[in-house]
Amino acid sequence: AWAQVEMGPPDAILGITEAYKRDTDARKINLGVGAYRTDAGKPYVLKSVAQAEQNILQQSLDKEYLPITGLAKFTSAAASLAYGTQALDRVAVTQSISGTGALRIGGAFLERFHAGKAIYVPGPTWGNHGAVFRDCGLKVGQYRYFDPQTNGLNLAGMLEDIRALPKGSLVLLHACAHNPTGVDPTSAQWAEIQKVVEECEHVAFFDMAYQGFASGNVDRDASALRSFVEANRAPVLLAQSFAKNMGLYGERVGTFSIVGADSAERDRLLSQVKILVRPMYSNPPVHGARIAGEVLTDAGLREMWLGEVKEMADRIIRMRAALRGQLEELGSKKSWNHITDQIGMFCYTGLTPAQVDRLASEFHVYLTRDGRVSIAGITTGNVQYLAESIHKVTKD
Ligand code: LMR
Repeated sequence: AWAQVEMGPPDAILGITEAYKRDTDARKINLGVGAYRTDAGKPYVLKSVAQAEQNILQQSLDKEYLPITGLAKFTSAAASLAYGTQALDRVAVTQSISGTGALRIGGAFLERFHAGKAIYVPGPTWGNHGAVFRDCGLKVGQYRYFDPQTNGLNLAGMLEDIRALPKGSLVLLHACAHNPTGVDPTSAQWAEIQKVVEECEHVAFFDMAYQGFASGNVDRDASALRSFVEANRAPVLLAQSFAKNMGLYGERVGTFSIVGADSAERDRLLSQVKILVRPMYSNPPVHGARIAGEVLTDAGLREMWLGEVKEMADRIIRMRAALRGQLEELGSKKSWNHITDQIGMFCYTGLTPAQVDRLASEFHVYLTRDGRVSIAGITTGNVQYLAESIHKVTKD
């Protein structure tokens, strides 16, 4: 029955992990997927998370179904983490299968209720955005974002493109720690972006997968989102993930939310979100949401967690400096300022696909073909070898 089904290509990001796992060389380094590692190169279970898990186990809770919209203790704390204290009575929030699942619910909602049925994403954007939205039945367009000349933001191009979209268009914005470029607008630039989005009556769909990773501070990282909500002129949707900032990757913990005009609109929106979720996966998994709910609502654990977020963000900043320093020490003639200028988990190195391929085949160093490096995979132990490898593939 399936003879006509062709072999599909490996995933652009997760396929890198598969290739890395197949490599048997001891020097191998995985800089593909955005997953935090300790300085020993090991996955990290946050202490606050481990403690929360203990607390939960001691309660011997049952395994009953959650409501369609998930665990209320978690979703309300997650909404406060994102939005602060404002607008919470207007936010229709549902638990989601992490950030990807949130985008998927959002895409389904927009496909059903937005007349334009096209969403505009930054160029470039996270490798999965296009596929998620297309599979929801939306058309996907792009606005200019990254400027390869400066390795920074092309603000003029971004504003021009957003202004040129049909009135009321859907615009996807990375709330902080832009993936893959590590380039975020400054707050003054955000104000200009917000103004154009509002003037054009566009809808802002924020993807916030790295809250805390850009500045080390969860409130500062949410400030663009909060500024849109506070102004209350552009409709706002949000996909929120706890994969990175709580290290809950495989637990798949996140939320999707829409800010309504008032609490009556919130109720109508949430009723429709439930109608979308029920046939999609019925209701979400309970364990990770209990953990995140416990971390967010227990004062001691929350404090501990915020410290750990800062610690992860700081280690990444140290590794940026170390990589740039090593490349400069090796006498690289190229400019590597962007390694330390860019923020969040990634550096958009400017390496070409051919150089990326050489890094993998000759040096056992794995990254995505767009030249994105997950800084979290760099350690004090491997940074010198990494710098030497990058230097060798870029020096002529
Ligand atoms: C990434 O960009 O590496 C992460 O968001 C993980 C993923 O699912 O792609």
